[in-house]
Amino acid sequence: MARTTQIVDLPFINKVDQSAGHIRIQLIRLIREAVYEGQLHGGDVLPSSRVLAKMLGIARATVIEAYEQLLAEGILVSYAGKGTYISQSLTTTGMEQHSTSQNNTIPLSSSAVAYANILKEFKPLPAAPFAVSVPVNRTQPQDIWRKFGNRYRAKGAGMPSGYQDPQGVNQLREVIADYVRKSRSVQCDAEQIIITNGIQQALYICSQILFEHQDQVWVEDPAYRGTTASLQYSPHKIQMIHVPVDEEGIQVDQGIQLASRARAAFVTPSHQYPLGMPMSLARRHALLAWAKQQNAWIIEDDYDSEFRYSGQPFPALQGLDPERVIYLGTFSKVLFPSLRLGYAIVPKQLVAPFCGLRTLMERYLPTADQYVLAEFIRQGYLERHIRRIRNVYAEKRRQLIEIIHSTIPVEFAWLQPGDQGMHMVLWLANGINDIEIAKAALAQNIALKAVSTTFSADRQRSGLIIGLGDFDRQDMQQAIDTIKCLLLVACKS
Ligand SMILES: Cc1ncc(COP(=O)(O)O)c(C=O)c1O
Repeated sequence: MARTTQIVDLPFINKVDQSAGHIRIQLIRLIREAVYEGQLHGGDVLPSSRVLAKMLGIARATVIEAYEQLLAEGILVSYAGKGTYISQSLTTTGMEQHSTSQNNTIPLSSSAVAYANILKEFKPLPAAPFAVSVPVNRTQPQDIWRKFGNRYRAKGAGMPSGYQDPQGVNQLREVIADYVRKSRSVQCDAEQIIITNGIQQALYICSQILFEHQDQVWVEDPAYRGTTASLQYSPHKIQMIHVPVDEEGIQVDQGIQLASRARAAFVTPSHQYPLGMPMSLARRHALLAWAKQQNAWIIEDDYDSEFRYSGQPFPALQGLDPERVIYLGTFSKVLFPSLRLGYAIVPKQLVAPFCGLRTLMERYLPTADQYVLAEFIRQGYLERHIRRIRNVYAEKRRQLIEIIHSTIPVEFAWLQPGDQGMHMVLWLANGINDIEIAKAALAQNIALKAVSTTFSADRQRSGLIIGLGDFDRQDMQQAIDTIKCLLLVACKS
């Protein structure tokens, strides 16, 4: 990446008005304007949060928050160990926006700009190695899914009908209750289940209905971007507290030190996203004890616990405290993401608020596929499908570990394989920029995600999220060879 190494003078530094308050908002606005007006250019390096805070005589946290907002908007980019830069790509967009606003186009609000960047961040990856959760070959549902679809959509309950229940189709809620009670030790009945448009929608609804203005909320560091982005843009101006994880999961004692009075914790206890370890029993109890004492919610994102390759999975956290834990599940991983069906299992008092917000968003989800899925689960096809694809993923995981170990020297990258899930993390050596590698790989039809985007600005590490799929061994080898070349070039430059 072409970039200046010298830290720029900030042209607006004298414009920060301490007496006017809202320093974070002033900083965000001034940096944004400096980019749009061409005073700062793509590749310019900003002072570290510590230095800028000192220059301005303000708290470092204020600068970090301002940088985080601009990182999320895509105006800044940050690389582990290298600092924070003005994004190369957005300087042009910013300039275009500035010139169009001079052409009398209505200027976009900061949230419109932020959401436009979210769209870029969540761009779907192609069905190529190593996309996560893209059903190919043997991981696709077999013909029976199509037959069920035809049968239940054409006649029976899945046929066209009038307005429906925002909570979701009752038959589907009944079979899900059965499934999670058996397979995940979740304590619930169908009345507590709300069918959602995947876990993403449930996370979004949580971010909207659970909090008051400026509440503090724990998120894991690193965490799924769908979680942090939903909280970041909530109108409640939620203060996200990034709590580091270690090999046992979220460090509850650190969370308590950082923000003991937080209102909620968003966690991935079965399979930490993206690092892959389960939360230990001791941490589970510590988290629940803290939540009970604070009367805080726990949001349990159980996105892929079905894929464990050795030993038994931990039961869900929800089973230990069903009045406090909101349990989120999805069919995106065990079936396919375009189905857009997931579920939230909530304490009874939250059913009405969840469904109320959903009514304003979309009234309710389309029902035909809900009937198809209910029947698919009821007749035992889902469990069979999971058993089958678990074996495929286990085989592909073994192959991929072998290929990576025999191809990529550990000076460039090393694998954190975990023992479950549909992806692994390949850590990159210091100084290799994972975002750039992912971009270069995509140009060669290799689908990777950069792990640095899941960390808070202070704790970023560089790595690649490598998804398992039923890709040919030869195609995987070829893709890993290409990644090795990209890493070699990055190390030399
Ligand atoms: C950790 C985690 N949570 C939630 C989701 C959302 O899944 P969906 O909205 O497709 O159910 C994903 C998807 O990749 C994920 O990785």
